[in-house]
Amino acid sequence: EKTQPTLIMIFGATGDLAKRKLFPSLYQLYLKGSLSTNFAMLGVGRREWSHDRFKEHVRESLEASSHSKEHIETFIEHSFYQSHDVSDSDSYIQLKTLADQLDETFSLKGNRIFYLAMAPEFFGTITDHLKQDGLTDTDGFCRLVIEKPFGHDLPSASALNKQIRQSFSEEQIYRIDHYLGKEMVQNIEVIRFANAIFEPLWNNRFISNIQITSSETLGVEERGRYYETSGALRDMVQNHMLQMVALLAMEPPINLSTDEIRSEKVRVLRAMRPVEGKEVDEYFVRGQYGSGKVNNEPVDGYRDGENVDSQSNTETFVAGKVLIDNFRWAGVPFFIRTGKRMAVKSTKIVVQFKDIPMNLYYNKEHSLDPNLLVIHIQPDEGVTLHLNAKKTSEGVNTKPVKLSYSASSIDGINTPEAYEKLLYDCIVGDATNFTHWDEVRKSWSYVDKISDHWESTKEESFPNYAPGSMGPERSFKLLSDDGFEWWAVG
Ligand code: BG6
Repeated sequence: EKTQPTLIMIFGATGDLAKRKLFPSLYQLYLKGSLSTNFAMLGVGRREWSHDRFKEHVRESLEASSHSKEHIETFIEHSFYQSHDVSDSDSYIQLKTLADQLDETFSLKGNRIFYLAMAPEFFGTITDHLKQDGLTDTDGFCRLVIEKPFGHDLPSASALNKQIRQSFSEEQIYRIDHYLGKEMVQNIEVIRFANAIFEPLWNNRFISNIQITSSETLGVEERGRYYETSGALRDMVQNHMLQMVALLAMEPPINLSTDEIRSEKVRVLRAMRPVEGKEVDEYFVRGQYGSGKVNNEPVDGYRDGENVDSQSNTETFVAGKVLIDNFRWAGVPFFIRTGKRMAVKSTKIVVQFKDIPMNLYYNKEHSLDPNLLVIHIQPDEGVTLHLNAKKTSEGVNTKPVKLSYSASSIDGINTPEAYEKLLYDCIVGDATNFTHWDEVRKSWSYVDKISDHWESTKEESFPNYAPGSMGPERSFKLLSDDGFEWWAVG
């Protein structure tokens, strides 16, 4: 389906995200014929670039990221640039003049998307100006796309939301969580709600626990300044991890409309049992990587990084036990874990089913493994079901077998894929895979209680995990105390 004519205005167009994700994604949509030929991309940035300088920048990004270079030149004919000062009205008036011109040249019908791919401190100022200086005053649709972080905690997120809402309505706001654009994250609902064999078992009678791991091998790299104010809890848990929890735990929506799906997700977030004060130490584990060797190469510890305090209390790893207090999930822990500089780059969900009531196949060497449903989100994409079967010609000895389905395994982590889907959704006006304010609000209020405790107590054991490991010892204890273990499933 082709999109409507649209002007896509990217704030922060000279930045990293635009170059690595946004231009390549728009280009892919263009190549696939999904993007209306009536489109224009207007890059906005502080740098004094000419249109030509910007076009060259877009060309470099596309040449580096795309296999097919066939239509790069025609795509670039739709790309423009305006240098800009975010707090100066004159700057917005110039921007409006150019936007109106492009609107006419490409017959864009006044449809506009404002994509804020830049430092969050400017979000509010920009949206104020977009309205005050008339950029949102068109005959078409206006949509605002905002990158994370959406605030730093609940109070700052609320203040930001309030400010943005003066210029855009909730329906016009598309808050990006790029995990929601991942193929297999989108598949969670489909696996659950399109298969008769899972949904009847999807509750505390048959599931013993659910584990979500999103591990990374890279360290914090050059993002020390941001990361010091964030840490893994805000960077990954508040958004990506809790979004996956919501999708796994939600009730079947009455239909697949944006409102229905989002409201079911919100209900999960509302049912999460708050953890606060000393309890945090019981339910959550924080970690920070030290220095060491990975594949025989020395790597720095987190505290050695640029713009990082040498005594930093910031966590680069979080593991936690999330409980959902409702009829379906009472008593089933959702274990989450995420961190930097771990052994593998991988995101996986493991649903562990309860043991069968009685084991007829007991033998000394080998007890029965539980059934597991593994959803592979990245780098491989697919589903594996772990079953027990009989070993050939060995009496009744059982052996674990796997049923696997592999979706297109595009190699490449954080590929433009997710952004491509999300940009497309935004252009066609489908906000389902974006986070509603109610979701953001609920997840901050959950996370704030944990960060309050962590910020008020210094973690003396930091650094407490070796680079290339799966995190601190205590993250294993978190599960073993409940009689579980993290499944290392390939
Ligand atoms: C981002 C975080 O939201 O997600 C990064 O800010 C993190 O710190 C990234 O590296 C992980 O995304 P992905 O798609 O590579 O799992």
